[in-house]
Amino acid sequence: MEIFQATADKMRMSSKRFATLFVVFFISFSVFLIVSSIYRNSSYYAIFEGLSKGREAGESAQNVTINRFPLEGTVHNTSEENLVSEHVKVLPGIFQNGSEETTTTNNSIASRVGPKNVSLTSSTTESTPDLEDKDKLLGGLLTTGFDEASCISRMQSQLYRKASPHKPSPYLISKLRNYEDIHRRCGPNSRAYDRSMRKIVRSKNKGAAATLCKYLIWTPANGLGNQMISMAATFLYAMLTDRVMLVKFDKDKQGLFCEPFLNSTWVLPEKSPFWNEKHIETYQTMLEKDRNRTSNSKDDLPSVLFINLQHTLSEPEKFFHCDHSQYLLREVPLLILQSDQYFVPSLFMNPFFNQEVTKMFPEKDTVFHRLGRYLFHPSNEAWKLISDYYQEHLAKADKRIGLQIRVFSPVSTPQQTVMDLVLSCTLKHKILPQVDLQTSAGKNHSVKAVLVASLHREYGDNLRSMYLKKATVSGEVIEVYQPSHEEHQKFNDNKHNLKAWIDMYLISLSEELVTTSLSTFGYVAQGLGNLKPWLLYRLVNNDTHFPSCERDFSSEPCYHVPPKHYCNGKPIKDVVSSFPYLRECKDYCYGLKLVNST
Ligand SMILES: *[C@@H]1O[C@H](CO)[C@@H](O)[C@H](O)[C@H]1NC(C)=O
Ligand SMILES: *[C@@H]1O[C@H](CO)[C@@H](O)[C@H](O)[C@H]1NC(C)=O
Ligand SMILES: *[C@@H]1O[C@H](CO)[C@@H](O)[C@H](O)[C@H]1NC(C)=O
Ligand SMILES: *[C@@H]1O[C@H](CO)[C@@H](O)[C@H](O)[C@H]1NC(C)=O
Ligand SMILES: *[C@@H]1O[C@H](CO)[C@@H](O)[C@H](O)[C@H]1NC(C)=O
Ligand SMILES: *[C@@H]1O[C@H](CO)[C@@H](O)[C@H](O)[C@H]1NC(C)=O
Ligand SMILES: *[C@@H]1O[C@H](CO)[C@@H](O)[C@H](O)[C@H]1NC(C)=O
Ligand SMILES: *[C@@H]1O[C@H](CO)[C@@H](O)[C@H](O)[C@H]1NC(C)=O
Ligand SMILES: *[C@@H]1O[C@H](CO)[C@@H](O)[C@H](O)[C@H]1NC(C)=O
Repeated sequence: MEIFQATADKMRMSSKRFATLFVVFFISFSVFLIVSSIYRNSSYYAIFEGLSKGREAGESAQNVTINRFPLEGTVHNTSEENLVSEHVKVLPGIFQNGSEETTTTNNSIASRVGPKNVSLTSSTTESTPDLEDKDKLLGGLLTTGFDEASCISRMQSQLYRKASPHKPSPYLISKLRNYEDIHRRCGPNSRAYDRSMRKIVRSKNKGAAATLCKYLIWTPANGLGNQMISMAATFLYAMLTDRVMLVKFDKDKQGLFCEPFLNSTWVLPEKSPFWNEKHIETYQTMLEKDRNRTSNSKDDLPSVLFINLQHTLSEPEKFFHCDHSQYLLREVPLLILQSDQYFVPSLFMNPFFNQEVTKMFPEKDTVFHRLGRYLFHPSNEAWKLISDYYQEHLAKADKRIGLQIRVFSPVSTPQQTVMDLVLSCTLKHKILPQVDLQTSAGKNHSVKAVLVASLHREYGDNLRSMYLKKATVSGEVIEVYQPSHEEHQKFNDNKHNLKAWIDMYLISLSEELVTTSLSTFGYVAQGLGNLKPWLLYRLVNNDTHFPSCERDFSSEPCYHVPPKHYCNGKPIKDVVSSFPYLRECKDYCYGLKLVNST
């Protein structure tokens, strides 16, 4: 099961003529509805080109009027979904009341947990003395002082992963400790919080107040994958600007994550007046007022500002990362930011931020990996389901393969075509072995566990029965697991999000990962696991003229709607020569992502 994200079709069009269609597709939230009608009526076919050139189509795209991406709560309450939820099925072993309790044994499963040589228990109170503190804390990324029982995964999850080859930089560590201080001092339930918020509320319509503390409220948009990548980007922005990040978590995200900040909370208090604040000045208006201004005064800046950084091309470019914007924003004590994007690459485009981020992340392609591992710790409830599933099915395998199959347009893509694509990719690149037609294979007792994350159970079932019926040419044993299959993506649904989170986390524990192009669900898994995934071609119809998958060059998420202009308004012609750490994404040539400079 996975999370829907409205994103663009990645491939370059075979003809510019189709740019318009492309853009409609790009933005369409209702991919399922719109895509099918577009592709039924066109002779279009896409060429998967990896690092293909040409942002031209994207430029002309600006002409097209595009559906605005719907805000949370407005689109997800369709009757179809209400129907669908009745059909949700759950596989045994997970989410069944009580049944998983019996599967936990008291054995040390050290030998079954991959490369690590530690004893693991699923006890909720036992600490893990075999690990040195430094490893437990991810080389200093995490701070000490937490009550371990309140968030078991914070200390235990390291046992399920290979140690990172690189440690976080001392500068990143000092920035994090500094941020934690600010958050403790200024976060909810502190005197500084009450005083600052009172002042902000009072002066809301009277110009930017000077407050002790400044805030950045993250608000959700789109599915859980989009939300997690945008939270990570928002947190980096908060650190760079000494703001306290608070997250507006509705019920759908309750009980998913632990608190990341010691002795404080990151959740925006329910009684905050900014939970449902309506009449807030927007970033766009601020820029317009600024353009109208004749003097250099900043008197008319507000105390609260709403910034929408979602992907929509119908608006003019936002120049958010530009010095002048940041110079204005600095004065505003409370920013409310809504984004479904990983906008970190744009921070690399600002000279000041660039300097800071480069010092924090000497390996540029580990930004999400580090921030994600810092922020997103599965709650005890989620962790019990993750660790039990892992120990029961995955731990004993010699190798784990994560396979995320996202079908963006189920109506126009026959299941067999998707299955062919998956097999063509995994067999060609020897991620999975061929089945042996002569059944003469020698015995090789190595076990590969394949964890399938998909909304549709057929993919796991097909793969499982294929390997059950026949031996493999290598003699390896292939086991196939699929923890859940929700059939449809659902929004604002707590149980659905919990399953998505568990699936993302479990596939991030693989040694090899196959994901679907453009899926932010896949981005989260590859980032947490620090894995360079094989990117499945994103099928939209029955076409087969393309390579089935390509290996990505970085585990960073792709920013789908990066700036197209320099801050002076000139178009960016050659990204790489201007911004050496940015590359066009392999799964979407208009997107940008971070890469190590070499
Ligand atoms: C975009 O608009 C301009 C001027 O309005 C027009 O010349 C151009 O052909 C349009 N491009 C597309 C792709 O429609
Ligand atoms: C969602 O649908 C239910 C049942 O159809 C309805 O009672 C509820 O008011 C709807 N909620 C929203 C936010 O539209
Ligand atoms: C588990 O059982 C309890 C009580 O029997 C029930 O209230 C709860 O909803 C169940 N949870 C699930 C996930 O089925
Ligand atoms: C583990 O289980 C075995 C029998 O199942 C029991 O004899 C042993 O005492 C248990 N060990 C611990 C540490 O609980
Ligand atoms: C790993 O476990 C084995 C068997 O318990 C032990 O002999 C060995 O010293 C351990 N290695 C490390 C690095 O702890
Ligand atoms: C966090 O709170 C605990 C308990 O109140 C306290 O002992 C500890 O010193 C606090 N840590 C920091 C860094 O403030
Ligand atoms: C900026 O000036 C234009 C033209 O004078 C006016 O129409 C617009 O409302 C002004 N915008 C703001 C935000 O003041
Ligand atoms: C089993 O096959 C795998 C893949 O071909 C190989 O890497 C491994 O060494 C083999 N193991 C044995 C025990 O032959
Ligand atoms: C998809 O293509 C295959 C082979 O070209 C063809 O046999 C099959 O009927 C097509 N399926 C659909 C639904 O168009």
